[in-house]
Amino acid sequence: MRIAMLILVGLTACGGAVEPALPAADQLVEDADRFLEDRRYRRDALEASLWRPELPYASTRLQAYGLEAGGWDALPASVGLDLVPEQTPTSRHEWEALGERVFWELPMRWDGYLAWVAQRPDLWDELGFQTDERGALRGVVTFTDTRGVQRTGVTCGACHGAGGVAGRPNRELDLGRARALFLAERGLPTAPFDGWGPGRVDVTDDGVDDPLTYPYLFGLGQQRHMNRSAAIDIDGNPAAVAIRFETQYIEGHSFGGRPDRRLPLALAIFVLSLGADVPQPDMTAPDAAVFARSCGGCHAPDQGLSGGLVPAELLTSDPVAAASAKRGTGYYKVPSLLGQADGGPYLHNGGAASFADLLDAGHPLGQTLNPGDRAAVLRFLSTLRSQP
Ligand code: HEC
Ligand code: HEC
Repeated sequence: MRIAMLILVGLTACGGAVEPALPAADQLVEDADRFLEDRRYRRDALEASLWRPELPYASTRLQAYGLEAGGWDALPASVGLDLVPEQTPTSRHEWEALGERVFWELPMRWDGYLAWVAQRPDLWDELGFQTDERGALRGVVTFTDTRGVQRTGVTCGACHGAGGVAGRPNRELDLGRARALFLAERGLPTAPFDGWGPGRVDVTDDGVDDPLTYPYLFGLGQQRHMNRSAAIDIDGNPAAVAIRFETQYIEGHSFGGRPDRRLPLALAIFVLSLGADVPQPDMTAPDAAVFARSCGGCHAPDQGLSGGLVPAELLTSDPVAAASAKRGTGYYKVPSLLGQADGGPYLHNGGAASFADLLDAGHPLGQTLNPGDRAAVLRFLSTLRSQP
């Protein structure tokens, strides 16, 4: 009971559950001109989203983005030139269509080991890389970087587009092993990459080895925070999602340029729309009542089964990533469960291989369910597929 109270206090303190007037993607379409033309609007959206401004992830952006002069806004708009539309989209449909292309085609970053993998089709299967209808590596593209050098990079679709479904993570993709093999061939040390396992990558250089699973992206538009440790508050502020992507491209292209802002804007509209055709859970089924009682206090049915923040030390989850010096807040957000029956592993670090494992480990607070409730919850979870 005491624990439950603590959590409720935590949730009300951090949830700030003000319903946005419009679904996030519509709001962003409506605000498109301001995002593109009004620096102050972007700066305000950035500041509102970084609720822990002292974290290095936040302070880097606060020092460089949306400034009155200089900073990242002064970089040439040279990233992703071939995707820049002749005319600015005018409808949600046109924005989404552009965003879909950006998702699959615009390299987020480039890496030497990827160029090596691209030349080794014999390794693709083993490393979990997928190919598209044309036999090309899904989410891996070759392009000319801002300095005129030929590079190989990953797009969003490599990690977040299994089977060609945008939003579904490719949990077989083993980028740690790909990197380790590349290094081994050069006689270089392979740690810590050889220890990550498939479906995970360490996205922060915080000096701690804390690889995170590629998350499902369905239902992001119903969530209040972005990233496992909730470093970015997007509640009623979907422009923060576009800024997140814009700054990610700037870093990924080594500060040599920035994308034309229509590209990250379109991408954010597309990503915030991703849950729309994923079946919503049927909360009238008898099994759903058990879920609602045992889990619904955190995984809210009207928010795609997502919710607020929980202090990491209360959870059975490994707290390391929540404590990351770079963007740890001390909390984990309650992620959306939409589409997650497509496959595990689950939790921020992939610590539970399946739903059954998760429940056996006593998620979230160490208590296990009685056999009847456990079976009902598992049946309910198994209905959460991304496609009917
Ligand atoms: C190399 C694999 C990889 C690539 C490529 C990648 N991501 Fe991610 N993405 C991740 C990981 C890992 C996380 C978890 C990060 C965290 O929680 O701190 C993540 C987190 C996210 C989140 C937050 C989800 C949530 O529920 O909080 C969004 C949204 C997202 N990515 C979208 C994108 C988009 C759009 C692109 C293309 C620009 C992209 N990602 C490229 C691996 C990747
Ligand atoms: C106290 C709040 C709370 C309750 C109650 C709760 N969860 Fe969670 N759940 C969380 C948090 C926080 C996470 C993220 C933890 C992490 O990433 O390590 C999570 C993660 C999950 C995940 C993994 C999702 C992913 O993206 O990998 C699943 C599945 C899940 N919960 C199912 C359940 C089920 C089933 C119940 C009921 C038995 C339940 N949860 C009860 C807070 C809660």
